[in-house]
Amino acid sequence: MKIAIIGLGFVGLSLTSVLSSKGYDIIGIDIDKEKCEKIENGISPFFEPELEKTLQNGLKKKLKISSDFSLIKNCDFIFVTVGTPQNTNGSIDLTIIKKAVSTIAENLQKNKKKPIILIKSTVIPGTIKKIILPILEKKSNKKAGKDFGLISNPEFLQESSAIRDTKFPHAVVLGTNNTEFLKKAKKLFLKLHPNVPIISTNHQTAEMIKYANNSFLATKISFINQLSNICQEIPGANIDDIGKTIGLDPRIGKLFLNAGPGYGGSCLPKDMKALINFANISGINPSLLNAVEEVNTKQLEQIISITKQKLGNLASKKITILGTAFKPNTDDIRDSIAIELIKKLLKKKAKITIHDPKAIKNTKKIFEEKINYAKTINAALSKSECVIIMTQWKQYEELTNNQFKYMKTKFVIDSRRMLVKKQLNVDYYAIGLGRKN
Ligand code: UDX
Repeated sequence: MKIAIIGLGFVGLSLTSVLSSKGYDIIGIDIDKEKCEKIENGISPFFEPELEKTLQNGLKKKLKISSDFSLIKNCDFIFVTVGTPQNTNGSIDLTIIKKAVSTIAENLQKNKKKPIILIKSTVIPGTIKKIILPILEKKSNKKAGKDFGLISNPEFLQESSAIRDTKFPHAVVLGTNNTEFLKKAKKLFLKLHPNVPIISTNHQTAEMIKYANNSFLATKISFINQLSNICQEIPGANIDDIGKTIGLDPRIGKLFLNAGPGYGGSCLPKDMKALINFANISGINPSLLNAVEEVNTKQLEQIISITKQKLGNLASKKITILGTAFKPNTDDIRDSIAIELIKKLLKKKAKITIHDPKAIKNTKKIFEEKINYAKTINAALSKSECVIIMTQWKQYEELTNNQFKYMKTKFVIDSRRMLVKKQLNVDYYAIGLGRKN
C-alpha cells in the first residue's frame, strides 16, 4: 500500500512523519523545492516538538519527499493537507487547494488503481461537493465513488502537540457517500487508531464538524476571558480557581478555560472569521460568534489600558514583551496576540524589546529593526519600565526577584498569571485577578 501526502505544513509533515515512522510507504509532496530539500535531510522547516525525530525515523524507512506530483500515480491513498489561507473579507482562499486537486486529477488519469483522496484541509461546508469534486471529475475524466474515492477527513491536531495528536486523535471523521471506498478508508484508520471513534457522515457535515470544533473552543476562551475581566473588578477574585472548579463539571470540561490575552494562532481566528462570513452569506446572523470575536479583539485593550494607567504617555517608554509565539513550544507567530500588542505599542511610539525562546527569527521578519531582540531574559529586562508576559513559556514561570532588579521600574503585567504564587517585590498586575483594595 502506497500513501501520498500533498502539502508539507504542520498537518502534512506531521502525518508524513508519523505514518512513515510506523513503516508505511509514504510519498510527501510539496511544490516548495527548498522546503523538500530540508525535509529530505531530516530538518523540519518549523519548530515542533518530536517532529524532527519522527521525520528522521521515517526517512530511515520508506519515506520519499518530492515536488513531483506524478509520483501519486501508484498511490492507494492521497491525503490533501495544503493551506486554505484567509481573504480580507474573512472567507477562505481556495487557490492553493484548487491547484493541488487539479494536479492530482491530471495524474489520476494515469493511476491504474482506484485511489482514495482524503481532504484534510479546512474548507467551508459545501466546498468538497461543489468545487473539489467537479475539478477532480472534469480534469481526470473519472467518476468519484466509482473510479476514485473522495473523503472529507478534517484534522484536529494542535501545534506543539502535533505528533502526539496525529498518533492519538480523539476522533476520526470520514465524510463521504457510503461506498466501497469508505470501507477501505475505515480499514486503514482502524489499523492506525484501533480505539478511536470513527464518525462516518457526509461531506458537508464533516466540513462543518471542523468549524464547530474550533468555534466552540474559541467560545470557551472568550467566555473565560470575559469572566476574567469581571474578576479584575472583584478584589481578591481569582479566575484560575473559577476555571478549575467549573471545569470539574463534566458538562463543561476542564480544558480551554485558561484566561489570557485572547486566542491566536493559524486556526482559531481564521476559522471563526470564515464561519462568520459563511453564516452571513447564508442569511444567518452569527450573533454569538460575533460576540466571541469581539471579546477576543478587546482583550488586548485590557493590557494596554493597564500599561497606560501606570506609565502615562507611552512614547519612548521602554517596554519588554516576554513571548511572541502564539503559544509555548512553537515558533509560530501567525495571528499571535503578542504581535498585535507590539504593533499597537509601536503606534504609541513605545520602545519595544522582545524575548522568545524560539520565535525571534519569525518575529524579526515582521518588525526588522523597529524593535530590539534580546537573547536572554535578563537582557530583555535590563532598564525596562514595564514587562508584559504574553506566552506561557516554562522559562517565564521561573522568573525571580533577582531578575526584576535589572528593570528601571519593576512593573509587571502577567497576561497568563504565571507568577501569581510568587512573593515578588514588584508592582504586579495580572489578567483575571482582582487587586486587593
Ligand atoms: C487549534 C485547535 O485547538 C486544533 O484542534 C485545530 O486543529 C487547529 O487550531 P492551535 O492553533 O494549535 O490548535 O492552538 P490552540 O492550542 O487551540 O490555542 C489557540 C489559542 O488559544 C492560543 O493563542 C492559546 O494561547 C489560546 N488559548 C487556548 C487560551 O487563551 N486559553 C486556553 O485555555 C486555551
